[in-house]
Amino acid sequence: MESPSPYHHALTAFLLGFIINLVFSGQAVESPEYTLIHQQSDFEIRLYKDISWMSAPVVQATSFQRSTKAGFHRLYQYIHGANLNSTQLAMTAPVLTTITEAPHGSSFSVKMSLPAYYEGTPPQPNSELDLQLEKWRAKCIGIRKFSGFARDDNISEEVEALETSVNEHWNGTLESKSSYTIAQYNASSHLSGRLNEVWMAVSGFGAEGCSSHGSHDQGHA
Ligand SMILES: *[C@@H]1O[C@H](CO)[C@@H](O)[C@H](O)[C@H]1NC(C)=O
Ligand SMILES: *[C@@H]1O[C@H](CO)[C@@H](O)[C@H](O)[C@H]1NC(C)=O
Ligand SMILES: *[C@@H]1O[C@H](CO)[C@@H](O)[C@H](O)[C@H]1NC(C)=O
Ligand SMILES: *[C@@H]1O[C@H](CO)[C@@H](O)[C@H](O)[C@H]1NC(C)=O
Repeated sequence: MESPSPYHHALTAFLLGFIINLVFSGQAVESPEYTLIHQQSDFEIRLYKDISWMSAPVVQATSFQRSTKAGFHRLYQYIHGANLNSTQLAMTAPVLTTITEAPHGSSFSVKMSLPAYYEGTPPQPNSELDLQLEKWRAKCIGIRKFSGFARDDNISEEVEALETSVNEHWNGTLESKSSYTIAQYNASSHLSGRLNEVWMAVSGFGAEGCSSHGSHDQGHA
């Protein structure tokens, strides 16, 4: 085991600051809006509206947990004034870590949705934070919830379980099997009652929401 670095302690202080803010702000934490399309015991399909994220790409990433900490640290600074307007933005939930697998190694990005008030024109991040505005159009997402801490040694089981559920019980198809997102809702000091989710985009977005008749069924109706 590695010993905690000074960086680790600084980060812990940051995370504690985050919790205290949450506790004393007395305000509900904003989350992106969605419509529940389909629900079973082990997965659900949600139709999310357009979402604007502030995204921290993590280069030379070695793990999900390290990437999440490093990316979250930059986003934390951004919402606490490290932007050209010195604006304080409210924390939102969940914090996403998107993992895209590629032959030369995985890439990671950590994202936080912008509060509705700033969605159109968010304060510009200080350049050294290397953050990017990322806009998602409305989309259908397959979701699997899990508790405890999301860790490198167990997220892939959750991802595989979601893939299996979608393949068995949903007629739409996964848009990509090499890209998935882990959504975390709670600060790291919350040891129990934690909520995490795996998100994977599914096909089928249309006028009726998320159609359960995937593209592979068209023409056979
Ligand atoms: C940031 O400041 C600029 C210049 O003062 C202003 O035009 C802009 O509206 C501000 N943006 C936000 C998101 O507050
Ligand atoms: C991953 O570990 C957490 C505890 O840290 C546990 O709650 C969760 O169920 C585990 N997931 C799997 C797939 O083992
Ligand atoms: C974790 O976040 C979820 C979703 O916001 C919430 O329902 C739950 O109460 C939180 N857990 C704790 C321990 O605060
Ligand atoms: C999947 O499609 C088949 C045939 O098109 C239909 O019978 C079934 O109900 C669909 N399943 C879901 C979950 O919509």
